[in-house]
Amino acid sequence: MQEKRTMRLDKYLADALGLPRSQAKQYLKKKRVTVNGELVTDGSYPVAAGSDRVVCMDEPVIYERYVYYMFHKPAGCVTAREDREHPTVFAYVKDIPCRDLFAVGRLDKDTEGLLLFTNDGKFDHALMSPKRHVEKTYYFEAEGTLTPEEIGCLERGVSISEKEPPTAPARLRDVRQKEQTVSGFLTITEGRFHQVKRMLHAVGCQVTYLKRTAIGPVPLDEELPKGGYRRLTDEEIRLLLENPSQSADGGSDRDAG
Ligand code: URA
Repeated sequence: MQEKRTMRLDKYLADALGLPRSQAKQYLKKKRVTVNGELVTDGSYPVAAGSDRVVCMDEPVIYERYVYYMFHKPAGCVTAREDREHPTVFAYVKDIPCRDLFAVGRLDKDTEGLLLFTNDGKFDHALMSPKRHVEKTYYFEAEGTLTPEEIGCLERGVSISEKEPPTAPARLRDVRQKEQTVSGFLTITEGRFHQVKRMLHAVGCQVTYLKRTAIGPVPLDEELPKGGYRRLTDEEIRLLLENPSQSADGGSDRDAG
């Protein structure tokens, strides 16, 4: 018979509720916790996630080792845990009950769109490792014009700095030119600093608006308001882990977003 894997009740409560262990212990001390209907006050009591029924303050407490969220990042917040000057993306997700949550990659302060959060290091690695070539699609608006030669240059790879190799092949679609402004979707497989802005700058365009619309096969859920988040579905997690480099090639522009 397979042995059940257990963990301490105080850790179970702290992790599942996103609380410090000391607060979990307070609930136990105040006799607010039952396991399978029995009152338990001892933090070291062993519980098996998934089979023991833990209830705290009359609410069932479900333990999940890993969590995965999609966030619609608004402009004006930084992808950092703390910042003296600006709000951080973590201010928006503080109600997610997870103490070791982190953002998968980063977006610039003025960039909007899809940002993932998790506490699963392997998931982060699967999406962020340069060796995996995961596609990230951005909708951009820029001042300037793009000739067919410049589009070809962006798609083949462009030099964005003397100290770096040219960018990896990329894809541009739905390029629209309106007088001296241009918009479109750019799909890249790297994650260099300010990469989209620098690529467009290299061909004489100045980005005025940037939004990430997809990571690999998963597009931003346009039902999510800016600043909103939701859990990734099991299917989205599967797609990201199994086919991370397959592109959604979807996404909407700013008017739809
Ligand atoms: N490229 C940029 O220039 N900025 C981002 O935030 C993401 C990609």
